[in-house]
Amino acid sequence: MASIQAKALSCAGSKELKVLQIRQLKDELDSGRGPGKETAFSLLNAIGETPLIRIRNMTGHLKGVEIFAKAEWLNPGGSIKDRAGLRIIEDGERSGQLTREKIILDSTSGNTGIAYAMIAAIKGYRVELVVPENISEERKKALEAYGVKLIFTDPLLGSDGALLEAKRIYEANPKNYFLADQYNNPSNWKAHYETTGVEIIYQTRGRATHLVAGVGTGGTLMGTGKRLKEFDPGIKLFGVQPDSGFHGIEGLKHMETAIRPGIYDESILDGTIFVKTEEAYEMARRLAREEGLWVGPSSGAALWASLKLAESIEKGLIVTILPDGGSRYPEYCSDCDKQKRRFSLKYQREISPSHQLL
Ligand SMILES: Cc1ncc(COP(=O)(O)O)c(C=O)c1O
Repeated sequence: MASIQAKALSCAGSKELKVLQIRQLKDELDSGRGPGKETAFSLLNAIGETPLIRIRNMTGHLKGVEIFAKAEWLNPGGSIKDRAGLRIIEDGERSGQLTREKIILDSTSGNTGIAYAMIAAIKGYRVELVVPENISEERKKALEAYGVKLIFTDPLLGSDGALLEAKRIYEANPKNYFLADQYNNPSNWKAHYETTGVEIIYQTRGRATHLVAGVGTGGTLMGTGKRLKEFDPGIKLFGVQPDSGFHGIEGLKHMETAIRPGIYDESILDGTIFVKTEEAYEMARRLAREEGLWVGPSSGAALWASLKLAESIEKGLIVTILPDGGSRYPEYCSDCDKQKRRFSLKYQREISPSHQLL
């Protein structure tokens, strides 16, 4: 192969080169080598193995610290949630709890729903999702395109309201549904233990010293973190949360004011970094303009926290996670209070104290 390449270089652009390239392609096809994962390709095989991108332009002021980011919007469903969705569904199949006639049911504010919807379409399952009525039009459109049945809950009750409604629907008719329950299902964090964590170890050649990741269900941080800690107990784990219950960072939870996910175990963390909505949006904007990474606000929050951490240590390799892309969001927080009102349970309770959850 090396000699073919050397020859190709020496006659670049010539007819001889084309003949050589075609011969090489034929050789590779015959021998089963060459790029491409599988001949019988399924979109499910494209989940995971995302690039780990070095943040270069925004880290010039850091001396001994590097920041790398997992480009999770490059998953086929457009977010990190493809990983958890696939594992939840396939573990359901393996355990016998998810059968052909059952409907996959969960509450989600978007990304997990899109992941379930895409995977279910490929595998031939039906999906019903309970979502707060105020999820963005972009997300509604995507879910409808995949043929999902949407059940809307009162926007004043936020994602916790949707969660309780999904539970109610399931309990009223358990034979009809497979309750995916991303907040309490261990398959969620196991997806990241088996994939995201392993990829980071390989991609950094075992050099990662810190992991910084946003917390929604906690699946990403718990699974990836457990795997990294097992590989090297010295690796430090940091969660990223909105600074208050009144926030507009879609996908993230302010744990103190939200229903705590069953899979979230704070005891394995070395710390939590709290980020303001405005800081998250501004950082997402900068990531697009300065690094060419058009990402969503939870990615902005993760990078803001990573930079803060990087500025407080002398040496290290920080890995962070960019969960989804900027195209899922209508605007870069031109009116941040509007964004906060959409996602803030605390605020929603304040303006409507009659909407008590528990
Ligand atoms: C945009 C976005 N960021 C971050 C997260 C957090 O991921 P996890 O649920 O694994 O904690 C989510 C989860 O829904 C998300 O949608």
